[in-house]
Amino acid sequence: MKGIILAGGSATRLYPLSKAISKQIMPVYDKPMIYYPLSTLMLAGIREVLVISTPRDLPMFKELLGDGSRIGMQLSYKIQEVPNGLAQAFVLGKEFLNGEAGCLILGDNMFYGQHFSRMLKEAVRDVTESKGACVFGYEVADPRAYGVVEFEESHQPSAINSQLRVLSLEEKPEHPKSNYAVPGLYFYDESVCEKAAVLKPSKRGEYEITDLNKMYLAEGKLRVKLFSRGFAWLDTGNCDSLLEAGNFIATIQNRQGFYVSCIEEIAWRNGWIDSEQLFALGKEMKTKYGQYLVALAQKA
Ligand code: G1P
Repeated sequence: MKGIILAGGSATRLYPLSKAISKQIMPVYDKPMIYYPLSTLMLAGIREVLVISTPRDLPMFKELLGDGSRIGMQLSYKIQEVPNGLAQAFVLGKEFLNGEAGCLILGDNMFYGQHFSRMLKEAVRDVTESKGACVFGYEVADPRAYGVVEFEESHQPSAINSQLRVLSLEEKPEHPKSNYAVPGLYFYDESVCEKAAVLKPSKRGEYEITDLNKMYLAEGKLRVKLFSRGFAWLDTGNCDSLLEAGNFIATIQNRQGFYVSCIEEIAWRNGWIDSEQLFALGKEMKTKYGQYLVALAQKA
């Protein structure tokens, strides 16, 4: 399976912060925001990733991440000229996916919690072996700003990785049918580009990811897995939530000493780079982050 990070948009809710630079390059504590979604794909075992962004911002992502070889990955880049909807990722990404299954993650979606890697690997396996799509549900107090999923009532919200039958999906409903928002992390089988190609723009003029998910639902091929209580799906949409996300990461890292979404560490743990490479990457950075990498490499 291949991965796509969509890091476009104008992020007007963060103005003036995001007026001249991409939101997804901004710091979330000690690393650029895009490290978080990239690390999610890496934890899913995905090594080939396409980064899609605006003509203005794409060069900055290239400068930050390069061709990915330093962390044992293959990264490529594509411009989205007009920000006209998330599902366009699979029109722009058709050549990149080249008939393979794909995982889309939004460049501002951050996840943290127990069993996350396991859930990701299961989603990859389900979609690869049984086809269809897999999305997630996360309970929020007010889901009106999100895609909302309603599912069979017999669910066990506390059960890890429970798999549920979806009844409906709606994009930003005024009267949500459940409190479960659909985070910006989607796994699709190889029919995704065909499906995305025939989507029509919604009332607000966008190619909606929720409409793509509805196509899978209509075929009876949409699975939803729930993130349990205590799991963190963090928002970075406005300056308060961005600051809170940074504080959350700082709290966990400084308390436990483990770094969150450290792409070099994940590459090393995945066996994509060796300890020598990790050591060299750490030595380049005269920060705690760099020292952390060096210490990991030396402990090995
Ligand atoms: C998008 C999707 C929405 C999803 C959300 C997750 O909304 O359209 O379905 O729940 O991402 O972050 P946006 O944040 O682009 O308005």
